[in-house]
Formats: sequence, structure tokens, C-alpha cells
Amino acid sequence: MSKRYTITAALPYTNGPIHIGHLAGVYVPADIYSRYLRLLGNDVAFICGSDEHGVPITIKAKKEGVSPQDIVDKYHANIKQSFEDFGISFDNYSRTTAKIHHETASEFFKTLYDNNEFVEEISEQLYDAEADQFLADRFVTGTCPKCGNEEAYGDQCENCGTSLNATDLINPKSAITGNVPTLKETKHWFLPLNKHEQFLKDWILKGHKKDWKPNVYGQVKSWIDDGLRPRAVTRDLDWGIPVPVEGGEGKVLYVWFDAPIGYISATKEWAEREGKNWEDYWKKEDTTLVHFIGKDNIVFHCIIFPSMLKAEGSYILPENVPANEFLNLEGSKLSTSKNWAVWLPDYLEDFPDQQDVLRYALTANAPETKDNDFTWKDFQARNNNELVAIFGNFINRVVVLTNKYYNGIVPQPSDYSEVDKETLAALKAYPAVISSSIERYRFREASQELMNLARLGNKYLADEEPWKTIKTDEERTKTVMFVALQIASALDVLSEPFLPFTSVKLKSILNKMDDKWDDVSSDKTLLPANHQIGKGELLFSKIEDTEIEKQLAKLEASKKANEAANKTAEPQKDEIAFDDFTKLDMRVGTIIEAEKMPKTKKLLVLKVDTGIDTRTIVSGIAESFKPEEIIGKRVTVLVNLAPRKLRGIESQGMILMTEDEHGNLIFVNPDTSTSNQDANEVINGLKIS
Ligand code: 2FM
Ligand code: ZN
Repeated sequence: MSKRYTITAALPYTNGPIHIGHLAGVYVPADIYSRYLRLLGNDVAFICGSDEHGVPITIKAKKEGVSPQDIVDKYHANIKQSFEDFGISFDNYSRTTAKIHHETASEFFKTLYDNNEFVEEISEQLYDAEADQFLADRFVTGTCPKCGNEEAYGDQCENCGTSLNATDLINPKSAITGNVPTLKETKHWFLPLNKHEQFLKDWILKGHKKDWKPNVYGQVKSWIDDGLRPRAVTRDLDWGIPVPVEGGEGKVLYVWFDAPIGYISATKEWAEREGKNWEDYWKKEDTTLVHFIGKDNIVFHCIIFPSMLKAEGSYILPENVPANEFLNLEGSKLSTSKNWAVWLPDYLEDFPDQQDVLRYALTANAPETKDNDFTWKDFQARNNNELVAIFGNFINRVVVLTNKYYNGIVPQPSDYSEVDKETLAALKAYPAVISSSIERYRFREASQELMNLARLGNKYLADEEPWKTIKTDEERTKTVMFVALQIASALDVLSEPFLPFTSVKLKSILNKMDDKWDDVSSDKTLLPANHQIGKGELLFSKIEDTEIEKQLAKLEASKKANEAANKTAEPQKDEIAFDDFTKLDMRVGTIIEAEKMPKTKKLLVLKVDTGIDTRTIVSGIAESFKPEEIIGKRVTVLVNLAPRKLRGIESQGMILMTEDEHGNLIFVNPDTSTSNQDANEVINGLKIS
């Protein structure tokens, strides 16, 4: 029986493009789930949109010298487009700067205000006098009172997941000026979570929520056990939805108050467009509401938003909140600010038409129960060893042989052998097996079961060997090919949630219409005899090592750039007297020979013509320069440095080197016409003075 579902995926902040962590944590599982529900014939509203308010956006705008609206316009367009290109099948992708959202969130706040659901309080909040700005959320960092993380934010500690008030932070520091904030009085409206404690206990702890994922249930339980406190839902900011009540001038709704209401406004926008009633999706008890989120959003979706919905009174509550853990990249935490990520727009450019490969790699290795690591090697292996070698190979063999033996016409089977019967029975069991995994939000397990179905097909062909029986037993071959074609057709149906682009291609190759999920387990013949299929087309192609090396090099470059950008200049050394300086005898020399010192990483042995003699100098620059690059180079040499032995070789002087602003080693170059301008200024400056 068809059921109604509202499926939400966390609204991404519009301060950067989407990366693989977002995809693996939220959007791919939510999309698999929504596609699956639709295939079962359910009525599904799959809802998302851009989260365009909040401090990170204003910080980014300040940094770039543009308005917050410019920032959100840019990234909203970028994110929307890449979701579309990646095949995330939202029914609506809206944005929180939309008029309909401002109206919906304002109304929601007004209703709670009118029903006395808020506590109004004048309290002392952190204030940065220099910036003339109250400091909440990401405007302030400090030490987490719970776990001691020194980089906790004013709204949350990303290390332990604790949700914080800015005033909870130990040693707070303004993110705008770096100043230590002072306290200043201001009025705000608080949602008294303590008032909803009993409801939350009954609903989550005593209720049926024990089947929630252990990470979600555990975090929520610990929050409730710690005791709930009122939470401010307004802020002193000029970017956001104005507080719509008396005394709210100059204040906006807290981003975490307005963002989840974004799910509701996006549903309204969609319903208006589609001629539906949005309230059916948010207020009818027989609607199932599921929130897909990352683990840093648990408290907002399991405690705060449900308390808001409950306080409003006319809404349903989520049936489940299947939060994922985090995805790391090549062993390090993904980070937008450090540019340590695989960005979706870049992936789509580098791997055009290979959306399903990334979807599959992220699903097969999804961070469902613990943080997981994405590596390009694993990505390559998932493609080459599974999608190409198992799934693609099976389909290719079936399609090629059907075309070769029967001009693409599905043959008429005769009597089934025991193996045929077992294979067809195993095939019909797959929808239930995969459903069971999906319905428990175990998408990686589900994706592996899908691959097992392709394995079943490969094994069947390998055991029955139609390429041999075609020479001896035509009837048997027809039956084998008929059974194999049924498996291929089941794959086009069951792969749709996981590999939507492949499923479309496969349906086109098999020249068939859409079947529903349950058709696979029913008595219906998916590909009847005499049906004409099309010609083969490779579903997947091998990803070569060079492709992977390119991606790894890209990451390495981004790591280096980031290290350089974050490198702070060494403090100046103690002052020296002019007489000390004049003791240095610096000459312009030319490197005439250079070779690596055996068994060392850093040392080069150089022969340098100093104008007074030719001498040996051992220099620790081998990691930055190849010997052949520097032969003939004019350099500055400190010639009166006392000789010393390095690995048995006497070094008679020193080549002067310095670092540029990115931390790269460069020669203090005597030639003004070269690109080492900074270094020249230093040395020339010294000489002039
Ligand atoms: O963590 C985030 O990226 C938030 N923008 C998620 C918001 S989810 C919802 F409540 F809108
Ligand atoms: Zn913490």
C-alpha cells in the first residue's frame, strides 16, 4: 500500500561547494532512500535547500569583501547545479533567503511567541567592543568545557559534538578581531528545552526510538541525561530573518531556529508548484518524516527541532534521524577551510558521466557506524574490481551473447534445471534482502547485496557456459540465456536507487520500461521471450593508475599550498651589532659542480667558484633543488665561516638561503634580474646600509 513520506536532507551552508563528506554523510543515503521509496510506489517529498543565514556566511563575506547575499547567491547556484548534475533527486531544492521561507519562519516564531512558548530574558552576552558586535556561534572560539578542545565554537564543539552557548566557553576569543570579549547586556528569546524534557524522555527514551542508530540514540540520551537548559533562538546580527515581535529590532532568528523550518517552507514551495497540500506532508499522522543528517546535527534534529514542532502543536515528529558519522580523506579530516576535500564540481569535471562510480564508492564505504576514510585507491578498486569486473562484465556478456546468438531477441526457455530454479528463486529473494538493509538505513550492506546479485549472474553464466552449449545444445542455451536476461533485468530495477544513471542506461540497452521494486519478486516475467533488446554499450570503464595519480597530486598540491598559507613567519632573532655584521665575508660565487651526498636525503655536495678560489660546500638543500638545476647558478657565499665536517666531507663556507612568504627555500641571489626579488631586496638592502 502506498504511504506518504517526507524525507529531508540537511540544508547545506552556502559558504562553499559540496564535497564528498557531505555526499557520503547525507545526500547519497537520502537519495538512495527516496528513490527506493518511490520505486515501491510511495508518495515521497524529498526536500532540501540552501542554508543561507548564520555566522559562517557573514564571516566569509567579510573576508572576501562582498555582501552575504553575494556569497549565498554564488554558492546556492553552485550547489544546486552540482546536486542536479550528480543526480540527487530532490523534489524541491529551495533556499532560506526565499520569501516563502522568511514568511514561514516568521510565522512559526510568532506562533510560539503568542503561545508563550519562549522565555524572554535580558542577559550578559559576549561582546567585541572593537567590532561593535555581540559574539555568538562561530564569531567566538574557546575551550570546550566538556572535552577541553581549545578550538570549540560558540554554538558547538566539533570535537565532542556538545552543543554550547557562547558564554559556556573557557577563555573565549573573538573570531573577528582576536580580542578577549567583554560582557554586555542584551535581550533574547529562549526556547525552554527544560520544559520539554519530559516529552523528549517519553518520545525518545521510553518511546520506540531504541531502533534509532546507536550513535544517534546515545548522543540524545546523554544530552537528556545531562539536563536540558533554555536555548536562545535569537541573535544580535544583521544577517538573517528579523525577529518579528516587539523589541526584536536589530535582531534576527538564530540560524538553527530558521534552518529546519526551511524543510517546511521548501515543502510548501514544492506543493504550490505541484498542486499538492503541504500540510499532508507535515501534519498528517500517517506521514513518515525522516531526517538525513551528519552527526554534528544530531542535537538540533533530535532535541531542538522536535521541541519546536511539539511547542507549535500541529506538526508530526520524525520517525527516524539516521545520522552518519564523518568521512575522512586519505587519512585526514575533510576541511573546507583547509581545502582538504574532493569537491563535487571538480569531480564532475574530472570524471564526466561517472556519477555512479562516486556514488557507489561512497556507499560501499559509507561512514555509517564509525568515521571512515575515502581513498582514491579504494575508489579505483571499487570501480575496477566491482563495477567493471562484476556488474559491467555480467551485463556485457548477457547483451553481447543475446545479440550474437539471437539477434537481440529474448529466447524462449524450455525446461528449467534445478540450478535454473534455484537461481530464479535466489533472484526473487533479492528485493526483500536489499529492502531489509535499506529500511534499517544500512546502505553499504544494501549496495553489497546488489553486487551479490551481479555475482550470482556471473557465477550462473560461468557454471552453465552458454558459449559452450551453443555448439551442442541449442535448447539448453536458450534457457540459460533467458535466465541470465532475467537477472540483468532485475539489476536494472534494483540498481536504480544506488546507480541511477547506470539503471537508465541498462533499461535503454534492454529496451524496457520501468518496473517497480516488487515486480522483481513477483511472478511477472521481467523480460519476456521474443522481446527485442538493444545493442551493447559499456556501463563502466576501467580507471587507470594515471587518473588516480592525478587526483593524488592535486591533493598533495592543496596540502602544500595550505601549509604554506598557514605558515607563520619565525619571530625575529636577537639584535646584533654592526661590528658583528661586518665580520661576515660574503662573495658572489658560481656553482660549478653539484651532486647528492650518498645515503642522505637533504645534503648536496657543491663545488663553488668564489672568485678567490674553488671550494667544497655541503648544503642542506637537496629536498628543494636537483643537482642539475643549480649547476651554473650564481649564489651568495659566506666564505669566512669556520670549516666543519659533514658526513666526512669538509664544508668550507655556506651558501646563503632564505624562505619566501610561502615557506619555500630560495637562494639569496646576487643577480637582480632573476625572479627571487624578495631575496634580492634583503641582500641589496644589507649592502646599501
Ligand atoms: O551543518 C550544516 O551544514 C547545517 N547547514 C545543516 C542545517 S540542517 C537543517 F536544519 F536545516
Ligand atoms: Zn568538546
